[in-house]
Amino acid sequence: MAFDAGEQDLKQQFRAMAQGSQSLVVAFVGITNGLFPALDRLGKASADAMAIEARRDAGYVRRWCDAAYAFGYLEADGEKFRLSGTGAAMLPDAPETLVPMAVQTVLNAHVAERAAELTANGERPGEHVLGECRMAAPWYGFMFETTHAAFFEQEVCPAVPIFREVDEKGGMIVDLGCGNGWYLRALARRCHAVHGLGLDGFDENIVQAKRHAEAEGLDGRLRFTLGDLHDFAIGAEVDLIAMNRALHHVWEKGGEAFLARLRTHLRPGGAVAIWEPDWPAERSLLRSPSHRHLAFQNLSEHVQGNHLLCAEEIVAAFRAVGMRPEVFRFRGGAESFVVARKPA
Ligand SMILES: C[S@@+](CC[C@H](N)C(=O)[O-])C[C@H]1O[C@@H](n2cnc3c(N)ncnc32)[C@H](O)[C@@H]1O
Repeated sequence: MAFDAGEQDLKQQFRAMAQGSQSLVVAFVGITNGLFPALDRLGKASADAMAIEARRDAGYVRRWCDAAYAFGYLEADGEKFRLSGTGAAMLPDAPETLVPMAVQTVLNAHVAERAAELTANGERPGEHVLGECRMAAPWYGFMFETTHAAFFEQEVCPAVPIFREVDEKGGMIVDLGCGNGWYLRALARRCHAVHGLGLDGFDENIVQAKRHAEAEGLDGRLRFTLGDLHDFAIGAEVDLIAMNRALHHVWEKGGEAFLARLRTHLRPGGAVAIWEPDWPAERSLLRSPSHRHLAFQNLSEHVQGNHLLCAEEIVAAFRAVGMRPEVFRFRGGAESFVVARKPA
């Protein structure tokens, strides 16, 4: 059957999209095996020399070099390779590193495969599905940090009064579902009077959080501990409880009751700061580039036993437990901070 011009365009467009995803999965193989940093250290090297430097199998590294050359991450000079500009952007310490996009692409493919299977029987296996993606899992903390930390410090902190207050007064901050601890480190760097406790259920995150805090000399003020958000103790009344992209992980087991428990851990006048992707009230918004990723994320959350929340739902639950919430929107309305105060 012959295609008309419009169908050819569509095929070309989808072929380009498929190559985009191939490009990112090729990068992922290099990232998780340290091949970009190995070549960066060597400057110019054969595939075999890279394999020795990275302590990886030469047969795989040779095939990878061809693929990385094809997608423009490597330049070739005879049998020797060097990093291109795009290859250098796949270094974890590059200023605008592209590593999170490669990790997210592989994670998306894994979750899509699980969702495809589970759509038949309706099972929702839970959080451990992300842990099944073994090579990506150690990169989750890094992925969140490089995607959100600069935005938080440069745009959110100056615009949301509770963070200005933290900057001025310090205090005790608890971060529930803290990931690799980047948020507490960011606040502790800004203010010497900040002390923090981070709690997370994924042990790799806690190992990384402790390591980063120690490396930055913040371990005297920041503690990190493995624990369950459904059952934790703090031991003292705190100034601020933060949850960044973590509230939707506990919401389906009773959001209002959870917020009521948070309230008991606050000193009078203390606050809870919730940062969540904001599920739009209007479906048509999902088509916009600023919101489209939320639609896939919500499918992924369904597999994990969660769903994305809209800010109004969180606001109503805070009001119901006697707190005073205020909403701040960012990134074209795709993300919200809900800051709720306990009356003094
Ligand atoms: C989307 S990540 C966000 C991590 C971090 N707040 C950040 O912004 O980088 C959600 C985090 O919540 C943690 N989490 C989810 N459910 C949890 C539970 N029941 N107990 C403890 N941690 C949990 C996960 O391990 C994960 O690190």
